[in-house]
Amino acid sequence: MKPEFNFFQHWYPLSPIEDLDPKKPTPVTLLGLHLVIWKPKSSETFQVFLDQCPHRLAPLSEGRIDEKTGNLMCSYHGWQFDKQGICTHIPQAENPELVSKNKENLCAVALPVRQQQDLLWVWPDAKSTQQANNTPLPLSPKIDASKGFVWTSFVRDLEYDWQTLIENVADPSHVPFSHHGVQGDRAKARPIEFKIEQSTPDLIEVTTVGRVQRKITFEPPCRLEYTFSLGDDSKQFGFVSYCIPVSPGKSRIIILFARNFGHNTLSSATPLVGTHQRSQSGY
Ligand code: FES
Ligand SMILES: [Fe+2]
Repeated sequence: MKPEFNFFQHWYPLSPIEDLDPKKPTPVTLLGLHLVIWKPKSSETFQVFLDQCPHRLAPLSEGRIDEKTGNLMCSYHGWQFDKQGICTHIPQAENPELVSKNKENLCAVALPVRQQQDLLWVWPDAKSTQQANNTPLPLSPKIDASKGFVWTSFVRDLEYDWQTLIENVADPSHVPFSHHGVQGDRAKARPIEFKIEQSTPDLIEVTTVGRVQRKITFEPPCRLEYTFSLGDDSKQFGFVSYCIPVSPGKSRIIILFARNFGHNTLSSATPLVGTHQRSQSGY
């Protein structure tokens, strides 16, 4: 029997890199875990830690990046942590050796991270680092400039949970109505014929029949992607969405709109190209 689906042992994108501030720590929530994103001065990569100092559990997101060391400094008593979460400095320690000798016991919890396809990714289980290393990111084949694609990103924090969000994005029948005048047209609502190409616990793939071919791919828990092809399949557009479980009743969607044609024009097929928005609600 396959083990139960473990939400904590998957890769999730937290944010487009361009939205992150390298100068200060930023709090973020994933699966109810409070996390802090920060960038050590010495590193090209942002780091993600549990948002609690190992000393008295103060939120590290309320700390700062120390100007001299470039490490993350807790704002309560000033302990500092390097990019692996190892404590490098305790201002109150009488003897600096006390810190170096005990550094294994004084760690902040660092999570596995990646930076790929313009996104910061995290694996929210510090105990399964090996599994994280062996698990590929749920990347989209469309977010690939070498294949002629261009894309833009769009982020929304939503006041409803991950399950509602997945159901919404996987449901093209609402588009003519709730997206009327943007991507939809009420007058064009009609039955949609689905063909299930594959359906396993790891991947669901569905195609629809019609003038424009549409493929919907769901790779649990977060990648939900639409690909539309025109003519002989060489012209493709669509979006990859990452539906992120933030906490009960809250979710976040990151959408990357991509196309491999019409690079210099705004296309009616991708009306959100060029925008980068946040808002509090929306279907
Ligand atoms: S709680 Fe962070 S240094 Fe004391
Ligand atoms: Fe929608």
